[in-house]
Amino acid sequence: MKTEIFSLQNSKNADLARAAQIIRSGGLVVFPTETVYGLGGDATNPMAAKKIYAAKGRPSDNPLIIHISDPRDAEKYSFTTEMYRKIADKFMPGPITVILKSRDIIPPETRGGLDTVAVRCPENEIARELIYKSGVPIAAPSANLSGSPSPTKLSHVVDDMYGRVDAIIDGGECEIGLESTIVSCDPDGNLTLLRPGKITVDELLEVCPELRIADAVTDKLKDGEIAKSPGMKYKHYAPKASLILLDGDKMSIFNYIKANYNPNIAVICYDDDLDLYLDFMPESNVYPFGKSSDVMTQAKLLFSRLRETDKQEFDTIYAPLPARSGIGLALYNRMIRAAAHTIIKL
Ligand code: TXA
Ligand code: MG
Repeated sequence: MKTEIFSLQNSKNADLARAAQIIRSGGLVVFPTETVYGLGGDATNPMAAKKIYAAKGRPSDNPLIIHISDPRDAEKYSFTTEMYRKIADKFMPGPITVILKSRDIIPPETRGGLDTVAVRCPENEIARELIYKSGVPIAAPSANLSGSPSPTKLSHVVDDMYGRVDAIIDGGECEIGLESTIVSCDPDGNLTLLRPGKITVDELLEVCPELRIADAVTDKLKDGEIAKSPGMKYKHYAPKASLILLDGDKMSIFNYIKANYNPNIAVICYDDDLDLYLDFMPESNVYPFGKSSDVMTQAKLLFSRLRETDKQEFDTIYAPLPARSGIGLALYNRMIRAAAHTIIKL
C-alpha cells in the first residue's frame, strides 16, 4: 500500500480535508494526539475496524477507543452518565478515556464484542480538526505494531506503519508521551481506574471520592483472573533485552550496575546521574530520560528510549523503578509491564 505523509506542523487545511476524506471512505490515517499517535479509521464502519486490527497485528477482541471532537458527542455513541459529565467538564478535551455502555451505532468489531465503548476527546488540535472534518468518530489504538512501544514521533510511526496505512499526519512530538488515563463509569455511579496516565489519581478523586483502582494498574493479573480491560491481559511491549527495574536509592543503583557491568548491558538513567555512568560505560550504552525530579520528561521520553535500546544488541537493560505518585504511577505501570514485573530490591 502507498502511504502518503502529510506534514501538518504548520496546519495545512487541504491535507486535513484529504485525510478526513480517506477516513470517510473507510481508509486508515495515523494522526497525532497529545498522548501518543493513533491509528485511525471510521469507528462506525466494521471494515475499517478490521483493517485497523490487521495493520497493527492486534487480536480482534481487544477493543478500540473512539475519538470525538466535542465531549457532548459521546451521547450519540454511548449512554453517558452524571459521572461522565463531571469528567468531561473537568478534563475534556484532554488525555482521558471513559468506558460507557455503547449504542448500536458503534459496531461490535470496533468494541471487541463488548457492550461497552471507550470514548476520548483529545486535546490535540490536529486530532480534533481531523475528527470534526471526517464527520464520524475515529476509532484509534496507539499506532504501533502490536508488541512495540506506542509511537510518540513520526520516525516511530514510519518504522511501524509505513506501507500499512493510507496516510500519516506528522504533528511533531507528542507532548505527554504516555497513553491516556482510562476509567470506567460503573453501575454504582463511581469510577474504576483501569490505566493510569497524565490525569492522576488525586485529580480523579476530586470528581469521584469513591474511585477504585484496578489491581492490574500495579500488579500482575493472577492466574484465571478476568481483566476489566482486555488490553491488560495481553503481553505488553517487552524489549528484546531483559529490562530489569532497580528499586533503591541513586548510589545503591549505581553500585549495583557498576558491579554487574559488561558491554552488553545498557542503562536508562536520570540526567543528573549521567556523569556517574559515563565514567565507566560508553555513551552508546547510556540512555538518559530526564532529570530525577522531572517525571513529565521521563514520561515523554520513555517509549523513545525503549525503541532506541531495541536497535542495539543488549542482553540486559537496567532502569530505576519510578515512584508511584502523580504521573509517576503511569510511568510505573508501563515500566513494570515492559520489565515483565522483574524488580530487584536493593
Ligand atoms: O492515549 C490513548 O489512549 C491512545 C491515543 C491514540 O488516543 N490510544 C490508545 O489505544 O492507547 P490502545 O488501543 O493502544 O489502548 C486502549 C486500551 C486497550 O488496553 C483496550 O483494551 C482498552 O483501552 N479498552 C478499549 N475499549 C475498552 C472497553 N470497552 N472496556 C475496557 N477496556 C477497553
Ligand atoms: Mg496501545
